[in-house]
Amino acid sequence: MTLARKIIIDTDPGQDDAVAILLALASPELEVLGITAVAGNVPLALTQKNARVICELAGRRDLKVFAGCAAPLTRKLVTAEHVHGKSGLDGIVLPEPTMPLATGHAVDFIIETLRREASGAVTLCPLGPLTNMATAFQKAPDIIPRVAEIVLMGGGYFEGGNITPAAEFNIYVDPEAAEIVFTSGVPLVVMPLDVTHKALTSRDWVEGMRGLGTAAGRAVASWTDFFERYDTAKYGSIGAPLHDPCVIAYLIQPGLFSGRHIHVAIEVEGRHTLGMTVADWWRVTGKDPNAMFMGDVDRDAFFTLLTERIARL
Ligand code: RIB
Ligand code: CA
Repeated sequence: MTLARKIIIDTDPGQDDAVAILLALASPELEVLGITAVAGNVPLALTQKNARVICELAGRRDLKVFAGCAAPLTRKLVTAEHVHGKSGLDGIVLPEPTMPLATGHAVDFIIETLRREASGAVTLCPLGPLTNMATAFQKAPDIIPRVAEIVLMGGGYFEGGNITPAAEFNIYVDPEAAEIVFTSGVPLVVMPLDVTHKALTSRDWVEGMRGLGTAAGRAVASWTDFFERYDTAKYGSIGAPLHDPCVIAYLIQPGLFSGRHIHVAIEVEGRHTLGMTVADWWRVTGKDPNAMFMGDVDRDAFFTLLTERIARL
């Protein structure tokens, strides 16, 4: 029996964050050391509350949920209620959380955990803007070489952007933070829109979730029903793209995904391209690769894994 992989999930729930967190909590391959909330889809007061709602839905009141940064490093916060609804978890009404918010700032939890655990033992899994990550690296540069890997959802290249024509939301909200992470030297695995837009739910799958007859199954079905409407209206796609669950699925079954190890720069000045992940897919810059930039996913196997795991909750 191999030891479970130690991870910290950094998140801005968001319905897709919620599915990702449930997948992680249902998977024995992973040991979630803590959950750190960041402002993104909705303000921090809601993302830290939503993270606790999700933990309680999974029966994990024991987990530590920390509140992190309430705004990007230098810019004004941009949120996405138009996608996730006012609560950030629209689609189903769940009980208010009763588990307390952990004391202390999320950034300090990240720093303390990386200093305490063996070097190379902890993987960071950001599912929202990278503000908490960047702040931790700025406050305690000694932790950077101790991070095993960062597996994040963010960016886009062939798929373009989803909040502007050029930028994906997580990167766009805090481009300066993204640049700190992408130039940190920590091994990166990036799940951009190029791959997450292929992880589209189907009617059958959503009905299968509802058919589990569990609170988790009902919540996932309701969240994805709500979440789907934005992408259907915008892209005409059928199904909701499960962006953040791609991060967790990669940790469990990396072979589900394929991509290229390339150089990815973050645009922090562009008038029209702010927050763009400038992916050197064709290796024309000669710059050393800094990220495994994913482009494809085995969609059927991804949803089979998701169903099998969510059914365990
Ligand atoms: O652009 C998609 C990303 O932005 C996802 O992480 C979603 O939850 C939002 O945070
Ligand atoms: Ca997210």
